[in-house]
Parts: sequence; C-alpha cells; structure tokens
Amino acid sequence: MIAIRSLSKARSGVPVLSDVSLTVAEGDVTALVGPSGGGKSTLLRCLNGLDGFESGEVTIAGHRLLAGSHSPDVLEALRQDVGMVFQQFNLFPHMTAIENVSLSPRVVSRLPAGEARSQAMRLLERVGLGSFADARPATLSGGQQQRVAIARALAMKPRVMLFDEPTSALDPAMAAEVLDVILDLARAGQTMMIVTHDHLFARRAAANVVELVGGRVTAVSKKTPPGTGVPGGAH
Ligand SMILES: Nc1ncnc2c1ncn2[C@@H]1O[C@H](COP(=O)(O)OP(=O)(O)OP(=O)(O)O)[C@@H](O)[C@H]1O
Ligand SMILES: [Mg+2]
Repeated sequence: MIAIRSLSKARSGVPVLSDVSLTVAEGDVTALVGPSGGGKSTLLRCLNGLDGFESGEVTIAGHRLLAGSHSPDVLEALRQDVGMVFQQFNLFPHMTAIENVSLSPRVVSRLPAGEARSQAMRLLERVGLGSFADARPATLSGGQQQRVAIARALAMKPRVMLFDEPTSALDPAMAAEVLDVILDLARAGQTMMIVTHDHLFARRAAANVVELVGGRVTAVSKKTPPGTGVPGGAH
C-alpha cells in the first residue's frame, strides 16, 4: 500500500530525509517514532504530497509521486485515497461536527446532501460522537474535536490514513479516547502510519515500528506473529 524508495529531501540545503526506504502492506499499522527533528512530520508530508522531495520515489494507494513538484491532478487523486490527521485538529470552526464530516463527500465526491449526512452520522457514531453531530468545534473537548477530525478524514474512505502525533495536544484521558478509535480502525484493517512519541501505544497498535533519527531510518521492528514462540513475546 505504501512503498518509499530512497527518498531524500533537504530544507534550505540541510538534509532532513536521507535515503529513506520503507514499505507498508495493506492493512498494516506502522508507527513512526524518533527524536524531535528526526524528520517524522516531513516524511508524512512527503507521503501525501504536502511537501516535495529531491530524489527517490513514493507509491501510495496506487498513486506515484516522483521527485520535484507534483501536478495538481496527481495531488487531487491522491488526497481522495490518503487521509491525514494532525496534532492540531484543524476543524472548520463555523461548521458543526456533522457539517465538517460531510463537507468533502458533498463537495469533492458530489454525494447528495442527504446521503453525505447519513454517512457522516454513521462515522460520528463510530467515533463515539453520535450525540454531538450539531455541536460546533469550540464547544467540544480536544479529544472530541480530534475524533471529529478522524471521522472527517474517514469520510473519503481513504485507503491509507496518516496521523501526525494525534494525541500529543491532549490530556491523558482524552488521548485514551482517541487511541481507542485508532485501535478500532487497526482492528478493522485500515492501513495507517502514525507518528507518535508514545512507545507503549506504538507497540500496542502497530505491527511495525520505524525509528527515524536525523532523517535516516535507524531501526525497524516488526511484531512477532503470535504463536512463533519468542519467550516473553506476549508482553
Ligand atoms: N518549514 C520548515 N522550514 C525549515 N526547516 C524545517 C521546516 N519544518 C521542519 N524543518 C526542519 O526539518 C527537520 C525535520 O523536522 P520534522 O518536523 O520533520 O521533525 P519531526 O521528527 O516531526 O520532529 P517533532 O517530533 O519535533 O515533531 C528539522 O531539522 C526541522 O528543523
Ligand atoms: Mg513532527
């Protein structure tokens, strides 16, 4: 579902990603960890075309990104298949939760308003916010806003979901609500790449943990499938 080949990127002449190669199979959850400034956010931005890169190649959800700038057509097609959730929820403040979630299906996919609304309602229920459909973001907690943002990204039925520190702006109780939603998506087979500083969550949610330090992949650990007999592997 995701193949990154020898991706390198510099900002103002300073390398930020160096020869990064990585593959993610359909249905896999990959956690991206590593110190601040390691290049995690930059890598996610390269994956959904928010940032360009100087060399290498990315294939994601069947879309191919090459070095240099990307054409608007490629980006539009890619963004329908790749959802992104940021640390700051970025909801439209003047719209209710359900309006936020139904906007792209109505405008981009031209889904009739009634259908977009009922699909949005199902998604809000899925993230535990069915009774908050008509609430505006300012009246919701941070955890609730982030769950609306996840529902909004899911509304386009993305093949891949990218999360950049989705819980780091939240207190522990709210972070737990958001992590539950992400674990639920993982169980449902959603392909995801999640930047997180929460190593415990990374190990629980992700089949693969990739560490980026100074723009290089320094470690990749794959969860041992159950029953392969690694002593203590269940812990
Ligand atoms: N807009 C920008 N302009 C210039 N340099 C940038 C910009 N954004 C990031 N950088 C630099 O690129 C490098 C990688 O940054 P990036 O944000 O990808 O790291 P990160 O791993 O996400 O860090 P954090 O854990 O703090 O979010 C850093 O050295 C950073 O200073
Ligand atoms: Mg970051």
